[in-house]
Amino acid sequence: MTSSGSVNARIEAHYSRAGLGELILAALRQAGKDLARLTVEDLAPLDEFHVRGREATLELGRLAGLTAGSRVLDVGSGLGGPSRCIARTFGCHVAGIDLTEEYCGVATMLAKLTAMTDAVQYRQADAMDLPFPAESFDVVWTQHTSMNIADKAGFFRELGRTLKRGGTLAVYDILAGPVTPIHFPVPWARVPGSSFLCTAGELRSILEGNGYRIEAWQDSTDQARLWFTAVARRIQERGPAPLGLHLLMGDDFATMANNQRRNLEEGRIATVQVVARKI
Ligand SMILES: C[S@@+](CC[C@H](N)C(=O)[O-])C[C@H]1O[C@@H](n2cnc3c(N)ncnc32)[C@H](O)[C@@H]1O
Repeated sequence: MTSSGSVNARIEAHYSRAGLGELILAALRQAGKDLARLTVEDLAPLDEFHVRGREATLELGRLAGLTAGSRVLDVGSGLGGPSRCIARTFGCHVAGIDLTEEYCGVATMLAKLTAMTDAVQYRQADAMDLPFPAESFDVVWTQHTSMNIADKAGFFRELGRTLKRGGTLAVYDILAGPVTPIHFPVPWARVPGSSFLCTAGELRSILEGNGYRIEAWQDSTDQARLWFTAVARRIQERGPAPLGLHLLMGDDFATMANNQRRNLEEGRIATVQVVARKI
């Protein structure tokens, strides 16, 4: 196995949870959801796997100017919450790819249950080798995925290859803050060898050096800090809510949420939303 192959295997193992689909269905039933009439909104507490959940997805969708008919590629699509949300809200069509086979299966199951299969499709693939011809998409979208990818210039070049000239790159990511190292485990990695954060300055120069013009740059670190402080406090006081990201991450999620709060409060991580144009 190549070194990137062994990193990928470790990352897929980090995200995989045996029987995740069944676990989610049982939690939905227990929360009183009608599986025959499941909505995209019902799933938001558990299928938007990034800081500030649905709110952040809608913000990025507006910032990126998504419109009906946009052909969007979601790189690192997870359980598919963001893709179903933007397809439903803005009327676009979304292809999702993710390294974690199990997530692709659950994303497809949730798309069927919410009657979204005409608008969203998922397949297993590595972001570094996308299974699409050049210039296939109007928008390439990625949220909280590049933290698992060491070669960021290669990552953004490969995303740019699939983007039409003049097309839009929409990114929402966690960056390295001024203080190092970060506290582990975090939701994207239990060990330092699976986590690759760059600084804001590095991200800017990688994008500008690889065929993009930055059009919007929003630092959302303050909002992230408030959000994780509330999540960590809620878990401490009441335990996990019936529907939440602990279903994906297991019992570690309480520690991960608390570490995220500390990482944000101590300036070890930052969050940013970026829209760039392929030139
Ligand atoms: C924190 S989750 C975010 C999922 C989704 N973007 C969201 O916001 O709900 C990170 C995702 O990136 C995926 N991922 C990590 N490395 C990847 C790679 N090299 N290629 C494709 N997906 C990758 C993981 O499998 C995981 O689903």
